[in-house]
Amino acid sequence: MKKLIFAFTLLLAAGAQAQTIQGNAATGKQDVFMCEGCHNSTGYRVAFPEVYEVPMLNGQNAGYIEQALKEYRDGQRNNQTMRAIASSLTNQEIADIAAYYSRPRPGSAQ
Ligand code: HEC
Repeated sequence: MKKLIFAFTLLLAAGAQAQTIQGNAATGKQDVFMCEGCHNSTGYRVAFPEVYEVPMLNGQNAGYIEQALKEYRDGQRNNQTMRAIASSLTNQEIADIAAYYSRPRPGSAQ
């Protein structure tokens, strides 16, 4: 009986993990090398191929970033560049990136 309860507890734990993907900011930091060229923290204006505004991601809410990336990936948001980029990301990578950009920055002025 004890064994059965233990197995059941494991099952519950596994189920809970499958539902919520935990973002890891340290992993996300390695994933954002491809984003920084456009979304860096200092300038957020891109001059090529034409001048356009790029939203700032640093300090943005994790849920918002995650939602936005999934919307680009699923085609609910229409931006060719971001759609192409988001379509290469897994849910785990999106969670990691969101954790990275929303991380608290001690000492930052914001
Ligand atoms: C070539 C430039 C470029 C690159 C590279 C790029 N982005 Fe973007 N991103 C943009 C532009 C431009 C927008 C605004 C698009 C729009 O108007 O929907 C945007 C929008 C977004 C948004 C929505 C922000 C908001 O406030 O709604 C998120 C989130 C985002 N990008 C995340 C990323 C991530 C994560 C990466 C790297 C994996 C990345 N971007 C790489 C140009 C870029």
